[in-house]
Amino acid sequence: MGLILHGDEAAVTPMRPQVKTDQSADSSLDQAARQKLGELERAHLRRSLVETARTDSIWVVRNGRRLLSFSCNDYLNLAQHPAVKRASIEAIARHGVGAGASRLVTGNHPLFRDLETRLARLKQTEAVCVFGSGYLANTGTIPALVGPKDLVLVDELAHACLWAGARLTRGTVLAFRHNNVGHAEALLAQHRDRHRHALIATDGVFSMDGDLAPLPDLAAAARRHDAWLMADDAHGIGVIGGGRGSTFAHDRAADVPLQMGTLSKAIGSYGAYLAASRPVIDLVQNRARTLIYSTGLPAAVVAASIAALDLIERDPAYATLPVEKAKAFTRLAGLPPAQSPIVPVIIGQAEAALAASRLLEQEGFLVIPIRPPTVPDRTARLRLSFSALHPGAEIERLAEIIRARILTR
Ligand SMILES: Cc1ncc(COP(=O)(O)O)c(C=O)c1O
Repeated sequence: MGLILHGDEAAVTPMRPQVKTDQSADSSLDQAARQKLGELERAHLRRSLVETARTDSIWVVRNGRRLLSFSCNDYLNLAQHPAVKRASIEAIARHGVGAGASRLVTGNHPLFRDLETRLARLKQTEAVCVFGSGYLANTGTIPALVGPKDLVLVDELAHACLWAGARLTRGTVLAFRHNNVGHAEALLAQHRDRHRHALIATDGVFSMDGDLAPLPDLAAAARRHDAWLMADDAHGIGVIGGGRGSTFAHDRAADVPLQMGTLSKAIGSYGAYLAASRPVIDLVQNRARTLIYSTGLPAAVVAASIAALDLIERDPAYATLPVEKAKAFTRLAGLPPAQSPIVPVIIGQAEAALAASRLLEQEGFLVIPIRPPTVPDRTARLRLSFSALHPGAEIERLAEIIRARILTR
């Protein structure tokens, strides 16, 4: 009999971990780690992993308490949808668990083609390439297209992985002021001619602020300066622009030749995509190191994304609910109208944001505080994300607590 046993045959003796007993000598590595952790602790910026069981689509159990979560990006509550789970289970039965290799080797199981075809139809592009995650998509795509002789302009509040991708190009990377097309254009006027190519990179929906990028105006500026526009629509696909994403949020579709998005938020699954022209996708498949040197997504994950996209296509009215709920909340709390399912409640100091989150937890709500460096200094905040199934009465209660007991402090 082989080493690997299946089913009832598996009477496996657990392996004992090798425990190092001599704790007396703290290595310089441990000392350095402790020192950095101490600095974070003193600034109220230390994080830790908290076990969180998502028992259904909006409730979680954390530290033994059942809380209504306003901190999940599962905007359409599809992660727990029976049809999505079924598709995933069937895919495991048919294709097994892991993809077994990079997509360019043998990991390109047949479900990828179905998912990419559907995404290309949704995004109205010639082609799509699916990546292992959003972080991998941005850090793979940008350096595949842009190099050391090029210019990359990034919105100052863009997601960390757009910044990481931009820096990997080893080109000239500059920040433009948040959503300030004039500033982006001034930087292009000043720097464009000294570079071979130029890329403007922005979130479509800003992950920590919930506002939309002015994509039509950025597209016009890009056109005037022969720059390429890339929008990260992690928080737009499924919930903005009739489910097609932020490129479609305006009167007419913005001209965004590089539309990236994730499958881990409203789609309820995992992974990410780049939607673009055929030659761009062909090049990315040849050059993006995070695609080439990383294992393909498991079939179960891809099948879940396909099932979720089916549901969204069949019921576009459902896709509008998260933004409607966010708008109801901002109206009740006296905040500027929500533009997306994400609403920031800016508190300021990290310690105060932690206290506000604790107060909400006492009231049965989970709202994780977001602190620097995820957001700029002195803008620590509560970041609320609204989903289709959040009950109206609970949104009212949350708005009242935030209005009367947090915003008035
Ligand atoms: C705007 C944005 N882009 C990219 C990512 C990264 O996506 P992933 O979680 O799939 O790595 C996130 C968040 O996770 C995000 O908010």
